[in-house]
Amino acid sequence: MSLTIDDIRDAAERIRGEVVETPCLASRTLSELAGCGVVLKFENLQFTASFKERGALNRMSRLTPAERAAGVLAISAGNHAQAVAYHAQRMGLPATIVMPRFASGVKVASTRRFGAEVVLEGLTFEDARAVGMRILQERGLTLVHPYDDPAIAAGQGTVALEMLAQQPSIDTLVVPVGGGGLIAGMAVAARAVAPGVRIVGVQTERFPAAWNAVHDGNREAGTVTMADGIAIGRPGAENVAVIRELVDDVLLVDEGDIEQAVLTLLEIEKTVVEGAGAVGLAAVMRHRDAFAGRTAGVVLSGGNIEPLVLAEIIQRGMVRSGRLTRLLVSVRDVPGRLAGVAELLGRLGANIDEVHHQRAFSALSLERVQIEIVVQTRGPEHGAGAPRRGLRRGAAGLELQELLESLGRADGRVLAHLVLGAPGGHERVAGDDLPQLLDRGVGGDDEAADERHLTGGGHEASGGGLLADPGLVALEVAVDLLGGLGVAGEQQEHRGQLYAISGLGEPP
Ligand SMILES: Cc1ncc(COP(=O)(O)O)c(C=O)c1O
Repeated sequence: MSLTIDDIRDAAERIRGEVVETPCLASRTLSELAGCGVVLKFENLQFTASFKERGALNRMSRLTPAERAAGVLAISAGNHAQAVAYHAQRMGLPATIVMPRFASGVKVASTRRFGAEVVLEGLTFEDARAVGMRILQERGLTLVHPYDDPAIAAGQGTVALEMLAQQPSIDTLVVPVGGGGLIAGMAVAARAVAPGVRIVGVQTERFPAAWNAVHDGNREAGTVTMADGIAIGRPGAENVAVIRELVDDVLLVDEGDIEQAVLTLLEIEKTVVEGAGAVGLAAVMRHRDAFAGRTAGVVLSGGNIEPLVLAEIIQRGMVRSGRLTRLLVSVRDVPGRLAGVAELLGRLGANIDEVHHQRAFSALSLERVQIEIVVQTRGPEHGAGAPRRGLRRGAAGLELQELLESLGRADGRVLAHLVLGAPGGHERVAGDDLPQLLDRGVGGDDEAADERHLTGGGHEASGGGLLADPGLVALEVAVDLLGGLGVAGEQQEHRGQLYAISGLGEPP
């Protein structure tokens, strides 16, 4: 590539004072969790919440007076759109941003807020690109490409200059890769100022083009990812050439790793990072061997995440860590039963988050209703003593055990039926895999039939008939284990399985 360290130093001069020199801070807690030094570069704290301002501003600062007067055009549904719109407005340039029609309302609104003309055209990104190129010709505008331009890569490369000056202990740079402008610029900069530094790119398994390039692989691309900022099928050719020459490795992470990294950054660093911005931390947590004994400088490249997506990530994290538990309760359809269950849960200290009372959408027989209750629990910490056999399956399992023991203590007659469901269908597990709770047995004709509906298989162990006792309410407890924080192999193995435990005496 024609890109040199002088281009990047020149870019640094051009953008100085106009983009934020973001903090670059060591994280003690993340270092402990990851087992290596972790230093974070907070590019999510740029005004438009991503590093994209650096490249966009550098490119636009090089326009001739005639080009400035005519204006610029960008084709982007994401961070680049906002970066171009914001700096064009500051510089007094007319900006046209072409986005596909599916672009998120939040991003469209913030791009418009920066005074750009937003053209929403095309069902796919390719359609939008075609429209954009036509407008470019018609109006005589200058294209500001998101990554395939040396002036863009030079601007992005200033991230590495800053990081290595702010934290000289960094010996490995960990960089998200989409179109490759960021890593190409950073690699050229780092090789010049700190030749021994390792440079590691990170992609999502769903869009592995750069990984393919360095590993001579042919992994196929998917269609969607929560790291939409790096969902690029074909990185810039010159960027790929730099990656091949200067980058030491490209690592892949999956959607679960990314989700977990977003949550970890929120919980530990109190910082909001979008999926693409979190892949660096995701890689450090997942590929621990690659970072052992090193100090990883991780670029948190952007913070533009949809609030609803963030809310969902938080909720799912609470489920995984045992702070939200879902109970499916089957009760006879007579007045007062819902109140009885609610009262029982209240006494156990489980705060109710949601209740759904299902008649039509229940697989139970006609005289019963299914109540789905989501309760806030106190997490695994208050689970008493060592985990019991068969329930060692992670935080949610412990919490479930605690809850069941409490329920048992409440009326002294817990009857448990544990069914493990494989993701595609339920499967009954017997023998050593079952918790001791199961040893107490469950069964009964009518109720067993109900359970077969719910769980895909009955269990004819000892104790049959108790649940058919008209004086009893059957309680079915189901917890989705979405796979582990932290993440022990065992938890991963049980990802997506359904734990169902049924049987409880009448609430008083
Ligand atoms: C948040 C975020 N991180 C990383 C990238 C990847 O940058 P590049 O396309 O230069 O590889 C992007 C690109 O838009 C992004 O928005």
